[in-house]
Amino acid sequence: MSAVENSKVFIDKRIEVGLDPNNVPNHIAVIMDGNGRWAQKQGFIARVRGHEFGVEALRRITTACAELGLGYLTVYAFSTENWNRPKAEVEGLMNILINALEKELPVLQKNNVRLNAIGNIKSLPEKANKKLNSVINATSSNDGLTLTLALSYGSQDELVQAIRKVAKQVAEGDLKPESITEEHIEKHLFTAGMPHPDLLVRTSGEQRISNYLLWQLAYAEFYFTPVLWPDFDAEGLYEAIAKFQKRERRFGQTSEQLTAK
Ligand code: FPP
Repeated sequence: MSAVENSKVFIDKRIEVGLDPNNVPNHIAVIMDGNGRWAQKQGFIARVRGHEFGVEALRRITTACAELGLGYLTVYAFSTENWNRPKAEVEGLMNILINALEKELPVLQKNNVRLNAIGNIKSLPEKANKKLNSVINATSSNDGLTLTLALSYGSQDELVQAIRKVAKQVAEGDLKPESITEEHIEKHLFTAGMPHPDLLVRTSGEQRISNYLLWQLAYAEFYFTPVLWPDFDAEGLYEAIAKFQKRERRFGQTSEQLTAK
């Protein structure tokens, strides 16, 4: 199928699922789960095969988000807890990261995507860290979608780091405890300057947030799908967005208050 025909198929799919292209969420956060189970289902012995196919899914979803005109896509690629996985899987994931950064740079440039990363990036192997920074720099002037990779990321750790910085200001007499606001915490998070996610998508049927963006997801809508991440595609994304568009986000207010506006 040609690129034009393929794109027509997906425009049809958007209509089919009832997606309103003029009202897409600004920021989608994703927990890309189910790579290991997918590899097992395919009969692969190595779980990393699932992660390799996970990169393909990430490319599809990033491209679809860029085409829809979203501002931000933030994906959970490696958690602080993932360091405890078997050594071969951790090494495999780091190699996948390095290869993907190399291979995907032209795709990011073509789609005007800016790469960003959150987490304890310095704890990544030097080669991965260097490659990541080089792709972040190479795409820094792109002004379409911002794709953020959460790497060596844990939200409780992120909050502890932010609170330590605020506590230091208090200890040094620069801030009174009673003057601490949400903004003081917010500006020390890895995500400082980014809008909060509107929608969280988790694949693979699990329904938990696994230490991901605990502060930032305060008012996000959650969407869970049984599809395993390597099988997730643009159509699945459109369905998630269409469901999101049917939700009423009240931000603590009543339905009447919202309709009166
Ligand atoms: C969770 O599935 C997935 C991860 C821990 C890694 C996610 C990484 C990718 C999708 C590859 C692309 C990312 C990079 C590095 C650019 P799981 O392994 O926990 O699946 P399971 O629950 O079925 O075992």
